[in-house]
Amino acid sequence: MKRILTLDEFILQRQKDFKHASGELTALLRDIGVATKIINNAINKAGLLNILGAADQSNTSGDDVQKLDIYSNDLLIDCMKSSGQCAGIASEENEGIIPISGVHDVSSKYVMVTDPLDGSSNIDVNVSVGTIFGIYRRLSDVDGPCNVNDFLQKGTELVAAGYVLYGTSTMLVFTTGNGVNGFTLDPSIGEFCLSHPNIRIPQTGNFYSVNQGYYLKFPTGVRRFLSHCFEEKRTLRYIGSMVADVHRTLFKGGIFTYPYTSDKPGGKLRLLYECNPMSFIVEQAGGVAIDCHGNRIMEQEITELHQKTSIAIGSPDIVEEMNGFIERFKGQ
Ligand code: AHG
Ligand code: MN
Ligand code: MN
Repeated sequence: MKRILTLDEFILQRQKDFKHASGELTALLRDIGVATKIINNAINKAGLLNILGAADQSNTSGDDVQKLDIYSNDLLIDCMKSSGQCAGIASEENEGIIPISGVHDVSSKYVMVTDPLDGSSNIDVNVSVGTIFGIYRRLSDVDGPCNVNDFLQKGTELVAAGYVLYGTSTMLVFTTGNGVNGFTLDPSIGEFCLSHPNIRIPQTGNFYSVNQGYYLKFPTGVRRFLSHCFEEKRTLRYIGSMVADVHRTLFKGGIFTYPYTSDKPGGKLRLLYECNPMSFIVEQAGGVAIDCHGNRIMEQEITELHQKTSIAIGSPDIVEEMNGFIERFKGQ
């Protein structure tokens, strides 16, 4: 029987395929894998450790912060500080960037963007949540600390991106620009093992995923597209954790959309650490990701760390179909 490949083995084998082959990126990806295993452990035991529930704070985007949001954020930051493979972090849970000085005075070439815990409003009811990350090559000189411009790069500049889904099993899915691979955590050995090599999104699909509660606030094109899905008797699935909703879309096909609304004209989801990394993964799997004005997500200019965007992401045929409705009803 062929022995299964662990994440560490896979990363080392593929190092030469990376766009900017370097041991540093390899080590950084490995350290992110370790950090998410620790987060996974805490999530599994959250009800026992008294880390469920709200933390009586809100973040820069005005969302209520859960205790596990803070726990996951602190843990990722601590892991990156001791890893020495990352020059700084921009996180959903911190207003500004967190520069990290290198170990033994050697500074890293890379910075990380992250949503440490996505879908955290689902955690108290045992529904899937996730961690999203993206890695950029820094623009500033490696001799000094990183700065905010290192993070304000378009999605097209991402060197790697991934997510971990804490679901019925825990899965890490990532890309370095050479396709997408998925790893399932084997709890008996504590390792992510290659379970889904070379993931390809179906060309089309029957699922559509959206918070229909905002229907009346959506622009006309989006409303007409949703009515069309309804008329076509497509299946509605909405978990309320972007990672879980996009993960299903990646494997089963269809579309996930979080459009802009009359009261959130810029959308809700964040470009830097939610939409760009997820778009890189879906595009690498053969899918499409646009905003609800028809522009490619990864080409959007970014001027603020917590900038928001609308998004439609998934199977090429369905996203194109939605884009057709957007075009037809532009400005309405
Ligand atoms: P986060 O928990 O990181 O703040 O993200 C929550 C996001 C995303 O995961 C999900 O798609 C969306 O919020 C759900 O929002 P609604 O409750 O408005 O549908
Ligand atoms: Mn999120
Ligand atoms: Mn979050």
